[in-house]
Amino acid sequence: MTRVETLPDRSAIVQRSLELVLDNLQDALAERGQFTIALAGGSTPKPLYEAIARQDLPWGKIHVFWGDERYVLPDHPDSNEGMARRAWLDQVAIPSANIHPIPTDEADPAIAAQKHERQLQQFFQLGAGEFPMLDVVLLGIGDDGHTASLFPRTEALTVRDRLITVGNKDGQPRITFTAPLINRARTVIFLVTGASKQNALAHVLAEIGDETAYPARLIQPQGQLWWLLDQAAAENLDPSLLASK
Ligand code: 6PG
Repeated sequence: MTRVETLPDRSAIVQRSLELVLDNLQDALAERGQFTIALAGGSTPKPLYEAIARQDLPWGKIHVFWGDERYVLPDHPDSNEGMARRAWLDQVAIPSANIHPIPTDEADPAIAAQKHERQLQQFFQLGAGEFPMLDVVLLGIGDDGHTASLFPRTEALTVRDRLITVGNKDGQPRITFTAPLINRARTVIFLVTGASKQNALAHVLAEIGDETAYPARLIQPQGQLWWLLDQAAAENLDPSLLASK
């Protein structure tokens, strides 16, 4: 199921995505007694994390992961982990064991990716080759059509047999969920704001297109796929692209 919603502005996207996260959280707790969410980096999701921090939730049952990470330490201004901790995790009584950051302290990013893959396999009690089903994966989209750290025409796009791989942004290493891991999620929510995303959206939402050029096209989850677009991002898009499927 794919739902595309156009909302007036960023605050409306925060409100709507908060609703979706809380709905999925409620279902997950009722069905499985715990909720697993992978966070997006970048700037768009920050107000959503601040809004989640204001909720009164059973933090001990919530497990937080990241869909990708820049290859910097958590105290670096570019760190996705650092942003989410400041906006949300440091503000609530979530056990530190429930926070599963991507390691970025290995000299070799490939070792960090393998380490995080093992951490996920351990947490989800997976056998070799098995992919976990996270409850929610939050994603953004770059002006170039990347998502997580799956950048156009990079090797990370081709990885199908691993949970975690090394992404590459203009020669800078990233650690990222692979497309197959994202696609296993029960719910994937894209948060997209700003006119600069129009071109990427047109290529990503089109019926036919080039996934290597616009990697967000790889995200076709077996569960629910939500596109939350603000007016500025959705403007000038062919209305047929905005139809839910
Ligand atoms: C990252 C993100 C990345 C982000 C997009 C959109 O680490 O930067 O995971 O995929 O979601 O680049 O970023 P904005 O929300 O800042 O536009």
